[in-house]
Amino acid sequence: MKTILVTGTAGFIGSNFIYHFIESYPDYKLISLDKLTYAGSLENLNKVENHERHTFIKGDICDRPLIEKIFTENDVQGVIHFAAESHVDNSISNPGVFIETNVNGTFTLIDVAYKHWMEKPFTFKNGYQDCKFLHVSTDEVYGTLGETGLFTETTSYAPNSPYSASKASSDMLVRSYHHTYGMNTIITNCSNNYGPQQHNEKLIPTVIRKALNEEIIPIYGDGKNIRDWLYVLDHCKGIDLAYHKGIFGEVYNIGGRNERNNNYIADKICEILDQLQPKKSGSYKDLINYVEDRAGHDRRYAIDATKIETNLGWKADENFESGILKTIQWYLDKYSS
Ligand SMILES: NC(=O)c1ccc[n+]([C@@H]2O[C@H](COP(=O)([O-])OP(=O)(O)OC[C@H]3O[C@@H](n4cnc5c(N)ncnc54)[C@H](O)[C@@H]3O)[C@@H](O)[C@H]2O)c1
Repeated sequence: MKTILVTGTAGFIGSNFIYHFIESYPDYKLISLDKLTYAGSLENLNKVENHERHTFIKGDICDRPLIEKIFTENDVQGVIHFAAESHVDNSISNPGVFIETNVNGTFTLIDVAYKHWMEKPFTFKNGYQDCKFLHVSTDEVYGTLGETGLFTETTSYAPNSPYSASKASSDMLVRSYHHTYGMNTIITNCSNNYGPQQHNEKLIPTVIRKALNEEIIPIYGDGKNIRDWLYVLDHCKGIDLAYHKGIFGEVYNIGGRNERNNNYIADKICEILDQLQPKKSGSYKDLINYVEDRAGHDRRYAIDATKIETNLGWKADENFESGILKTIQWYLDKYSS
């Protein structure tokens, strides 16, 4: 039985990943590490609370003695690294913690992994040849696009927010541990996710919650910012494939080819809610209101997922319309229970 350390599992994507991974691989023991910041909640992990192959540890990825202890006591053989400060708006008001967690935390984690798995550069300790480190990153590292074009794995990095700059830095550190020390690393850069268990602060949960509370639904600027939306389980399946079949040192972009702007998203959610849980009068769309734009708001992100589709056989199972329906159903259940 192999022990894999998964970080950031009390958050949105990490918790969905744990549910997917623990069912898919009966030979893995999973250690969840999460600091339980404002963004993490143990409720997100309640389905694996008593699972015999899952252990939760509350802790900080920047805490080197703790990380060393986890590696030594459990002989960790793989890392899947989600933990991060992830909200762009917070990175504008409070960038320091993004550098601390996303840059220093990633460094601590990969450096401890290197020392646990390898004797010296390009020489693994006996029995550790297959140990690997998958770093979960974002398409925001590539900056913003005009009306056309797609981000590929060879697009130059041009991060525009403290969040994306900190993620770009962490990607570079992971890249350097492959090139300098010969570590088995894989980086995935994914587009915007949505689905169950996303934090309230993000766009889609905000639209759903505000609508159901019959409060103003705030949309930044003119609402024409475009993101390439991916259902969270499709992202998890992509990470799973990249972890098991990805080539070390490579980067894989993950995106659903589902470009939608914020106006479309708000309208679509309102239309579905109008059908599933109608207001007493009028449409939820009446609540949509435009607010001052985010500083430095990137206009368009879109991913070319050809590499992971062609080389690893990944394909998104959901399009935006099928995924958002599942997501809304999940929030309706959550708010009615
Ligand atoms: N959400 C997206 O659309 C998206 C898209 C592409 C990539 N990503 C990346 O995926 C990863 C997960 O994103 P998410 O949306 O699930 O984020 P999230 O904010 O929902 O969860 C992050 C988790 O990390 C934990 N954490 C924060 N700082 C920590 C620290 N110092 N030590 C240990 N744990 C800490 C938090 O408690 C939280 O549980 C991030 O690396 C993010 O950059 C997210």
